[in-house]
Amino acid sequence: MTILDIYETMEYGPAPESAGPALDWITKHAGEFGLFIGGRWVQGTAGETFASMDPASGAELARITQAGAADVDAAVTAARAALPGWSGLSKHARARHLYALARGIQKHARLLAVLESLDNGKSIRETRDLDVPLAARHFYHHAGWAQLLDQEFPGYGAVGVVGQIIPWNFPLLMLAWKVAPALAAGNTVVLKPAEFTSLTALAFAEIAQAAGLPAGVLNIVTGDGETGRLIVDHPDVNKIAFTGSTDVGRQIRAATAGSGKRLSLELGGKSPFVVFDDADLDSVVEGVVDAIWFNQGQVCCAGSRLLIQEGIAESLIAKLRARMETLRMGSSLDKAVDMSAIVAPVQLQRIQSLVEQGVREGSTLWQPSWSCPTEGSFYPPTLFTDVSPASTIAQVEIFGPVAVAMTFRTPEEAVRLANNTPYGLAASVWSENINLALDIAPKIKAGVVWINSTNLFDAAAGFGGYRESGFGREGGREGMWEYLKPLEEAKPPRPRRQPTRSGVEAPQPDLSLPSIDRTPKLFIGGKQVRPDSGYSLAIGDHRGSLLGEVGEGNRKDIRNAVEAAHASTWGRLTGHARAQILYYLAENLEARAPEFAQRIARMTGRTDSAREVEASLSRLFTYAAWADKYDGAVHNVPIRGVALAMHEPIGVIGAACPQEYPLLGLVSVMAPALAMGNSVVVLPSEPHPLAATDFYSVLETSDVPAGAVNIVTGHTEGLIEELTKHEDVGAVWYFGSSTGVATVERTSISNLKRTWSNSQDRDWLDPRVGEGREFLREATQVKNIWIPYGE
Ligand code: NAI
Repeated sequence: MTILDIYETMEYGPAPESAGPALDWITKHAGEFGLFIGGRWVQGTAGETFASMDPASGAELARITQAGAADVDAAVTAARAALPGWSGLSKHARARHLYALARGIQKHARLLAVLESLDNGKSIRETRDLDVPLAARHFYHHAGWAQLLDQEFPGYGAVGVVGQIIPWNFPLLMLAWKVAPALAAGNTVVLKPAEFTSLTALAFAEIAQAAGLPAGVLNIVTGDGETGRLIVDHPDVNKIAFTGSTDVGRQIRAATAGSGKRLSLELGGKSPFVVFDDADLDSVVEGVVDAIWFNQGQVCCAGSRLLIQEGIAESLIAKLRARMETLRMGSSLDKAVDMSAIVAPVQLQRIQSLVEQGVREGSTLWQPSWSCPTEGSFYPPTLFTDVSPASTIAQVEIFGPVAVAMTFRTPEEAVRLANNTPYGLAASVWSENINLALDIAPKIKAGVVWINSTNLFDAAAGFGGYRESGFGREGGREGMWEYLKPLEEAKPPRPRRQPTRSGVEAPQPDLSLPSIDRTPKLFIGGKQVRPDSGYSLAIGDHRGSLLGEVGEGNRKDIRNAVEAAHASTWGRLTGHARAQILYYLAENLEARAPEFAQRIARMTGRTDSAREVEASLSRLFTYAAWADKYDGAVHNVPIRGVALAMHEPIGVIGAACPQEYPLLGLVSVMAPALAMGNSVVVLPSEPHPLAATDFYSVLETSDVPAGAVNIVTGHTEGLIEELTKHEDVGAVWYFGSSTGVATVERTSISNLKRTWSNSQDRDWLDPRVGEGREFLREATQVKNIWIPYGE
């Protein structure tokens, strides 16, 4: 036998990690776990428990408590009681606590890795080298944000008691992604792990207890979706952070709509993995292994759709099949396996049935010749070819080790295919031509794009999606905002500024003159157009006499306005060009300032209307200033390369303007959206729309490209509902009544649109609350583009 023969025939032997530390720990708890509430272990009040299983063997590992309403209430009460102490603690003290949690994870790394592998079925190689070290890294990174909070987030403080609900695919890591930023920002937490994988969360609670985390700051309640629902519905929870399926995300959006609870959702995906013909195919093959067979494909950002340029498709598929033959599958504690078990039989069945559907719909299935272990829940790596982009397996998240391959010819076609799902979580782009890769990355609708790499994560770089993949970011500076709110909000609303009767600020408009009747149209696509309904609404002056009429917009007008907004060239302008146009708007408004002041005074009866016009001019200047300054960041991630956090415009923003300031309200919502490169469809003040309709001619004379600003007058509540329903509107802003807020949030349930709804009083004349970064954040989304470098 030659050495070559030995190499070619050599089989791997088993290399098991000992289950000892984890089994000992479970035995120490007598195989049964209570709830961690108020710093203590307590029994569930209903006395119900369920089993946590080892998916690789099918054996029962431990019994877990099913928390009921009284338990959830006790946890929320404990978190509420701990809130003043924790949020009032010095930032340095909080940083020390987070540091202690990071150290605790590191010290118990072996226990946590083995426990996670046993409970979830994922391979020890992954838990040991990725889940646990990254969880520790999150606490270290956020210890830093706690320390720097006052300097880096001045004027912001904790949101309050946060309910966090996490899935089973990265149990400890998802806990870290949620708990670390929440605690760093001064919130207290009630967290529910997924029912399949509670054990590492319970071990973490023990670590936190030993590290001296104050009682009640972190509470862990276990149970199924019903326990999750109890957290979501609890009236004393200020924010819900959820990771999991889009279906449950929708239910949570429905349950929280109009409740005043903040919400962030990290949902599913169907992420494209785009391979251009000049890519390094050997690297691509390893990339696919990491994209879809990592964690058995149970990864929300798994590269599950392989989009391959036509000329290389055949050779890449052949290489992939060869590589799939060499993947090793086995026990989760075997250090030498590539893949291990699926989390639970129910998930296995879901994968099987979707694969069967793929075959029924005519796609070609390919699986390696080796067979899976027969005990436990295993599924082989699977590759589909001949897939039509509209087929079920190309659209639905399978959440298993199943890749579907499709081909494209041109970069434009690649982008169209990549964006052809309702999701927008992540993407990989493979090309040796960096110009091409960096041209494609911003065009793909995804919160994260990896260039020539995949599934890279770090605490310093935000993660999160667009569209049905949810909203909000986790990690980095961008993730901290999810757990902070302006301290201003905490103060009682200021009394509305009373109009000054002295007239010192402005020449008194002459309210005795008779009004000139006009019926302005709508402003859509750069033109004044008649409302579809042909109807108009009477507008009264402050005394109730008829002042004029405006068009009554309807659903069709909203559709036309959204279409015009999409067709606009505005988003292609540079920040400098956008600033020039915003300055030009200010210039043309200023030339007509007395006329606007007069109009506002007549509508509202206010005598400080000149001040409103002056504030509007200043606001236009503010956003002209910001247009080229609200920069992204280059995140310092631990790879040889960079992660570019780009502030991208959302696209089309629909906005209902505040009612009380006819001109300033319009400018305050329109200008930040425009400054960041969005087109807008705005609904001006319903009772006082005439300043907005007068503004049409300012827009027409200021070089604003057609469709950048569209103004639809009419009934705000009905029109904002149409905007929220519209699939092509990226975000909706609403400033108005609490019923309006509820309408917007409820209407967004089906499409999970990003909404920014405000029912509190805001003093629009005060630049501290009427303008600034809060508006710019809402007008943008962060896309992290990871670019490794080196040969
Ligand atoms: P799921 O969304 O039902 O579960 C996630 C978490 O939400 C768990 O802790 C669960 O107990 C909780 N939950 C369930 N119903 C709830 C409710 N009504 N209110 C509050 N909390 C609730 O996910 P599941 O059933 O475990 O997996 C089903 C599919 O979801 C998977 O096949 C996959 O496609 C997707 N999924 C996506 C994940 C992601 O990271 N994006 C993670 C897990 C699953």
